[in-house]
Amino acid sequence: MADETPWEAGRFDAGSGRKKILFGRMYEDAAIEESVFPTGSHVFCIASAGCTAIKLAPHHTVTAVDINPLQLTYAARRAAGGAAQIGSAERLVGIGRRLMALFGWRRRTLETFLDLERPDEQIAFWSRNLDTTGFRLAIDTLLSLRWLRSVYAAPFLQILPPQFGRVMRRRLERCWRTHPNRTNPYARALLLGDLSEGARPTRSKEIRFVCADAAAFLESCAPGTFDGFTLSNILDGAPEGYRRRLVAAVQRAGKRDAVVVLRSFAEPEDESTDNQATRDRSVLWGIVDVRPVANLFELRQFGPPAHEHFS
Ligand SMILES: C[S@@+](CC[C@H](N)C(=O)[O-])C[C@H]1O[C@@H](n2cnc3c(N)ncnc32)[C@H](O)[C@@H]1O
Repeated sequence: MADETPWEAGRFDAGSGRKKILFGRMYEDAAIEESVFPTGSHVFCIASAGCTAIKLAPHHTVTAVDINPLQLTYAARRAAGGAAQIGSAERLVGIGRRLMALFGWRRRTLETFLDLERPDEQIAFWSRNLDTTGFRLAIDTLLSLRWLRSVYAAPFLQILPPQFGRVMRRRLERCWRTHPNRTNPYARALLLGDLSEGARPTRSKEIRFVCADAAAFLESCAPGTFDGFTLSNILDGAPEGYRRRLVAAVQRAGKRDAVVVLRSFAEPEDESTDNQATRDRSVLWGIVDVRPVANLFELRQFGPPAHEHFS
């Protein structure tokens, strides 16, 4: 349907089998959320693996929502101190890591790289030891439409830019050029598959976990309930009708000065000042849009493009 999201299936592929835990941890730098939501905010959060909700809970009132019941139960378990578990995303990235190992990436080299803290040294080390012809070939193949189609349902691929492998290589370099590796848990998670840093429950207020579609849940809340929203990349793959419905629901459920954080794998269309993707240490994002709820209607870029342009 025009306003239903493909995330409802609880799996990446187009199959109709059972839902899965998709994310064992989150690949979203919650330091951005920590910096934009004033202390004491009531925050609506997509639960995913729980990392962002757990990071925000000590200083905010957090409602964490997920459409996938397995993912929501997992996030709640982690918030209660439960162990991390590998999800579909980690399995897929694990295939990539094994391929990189065949092309010469060694754990010791990666650990040396991850121990660096000066961006100039990081870029030099990357160029010399890791950005090899084999690596480029492997990542461009793994992120090609042909391979991704065998793993992901079509809607998830529509927003990806052409030559996604090359785009992702640029995003990796952007991260090494900007953030010290030594203090970057997201770089460790991506390059070594380290799940441990994702979320450490601290003594904090209870997080309210709700299994629901984000738009439907927000439509059921009193107007002006939330001071902040962090929506992960739930609009990647969602149809235009769902985007419009979510924007309306967020505007209604948000206070007048609420702030919204929304990520996307898409490439930005222009150099918007709302785009804080460079600040996000988790490497992956083309867009980390941070804007006041009042300007949300200007969001054009998060729907699928008029035609499929991915290659
Ligand atoms: C969008 S995915 C992306 C995960 C992210 N990249 C990360 O690093 O964790 C995060 C979660 O959003 C949930 N989700 C997607 N669309 C949703 C919706 N419309 N309402 C509620 N949850 C949704 C998925 O089930 C998934 O657990």
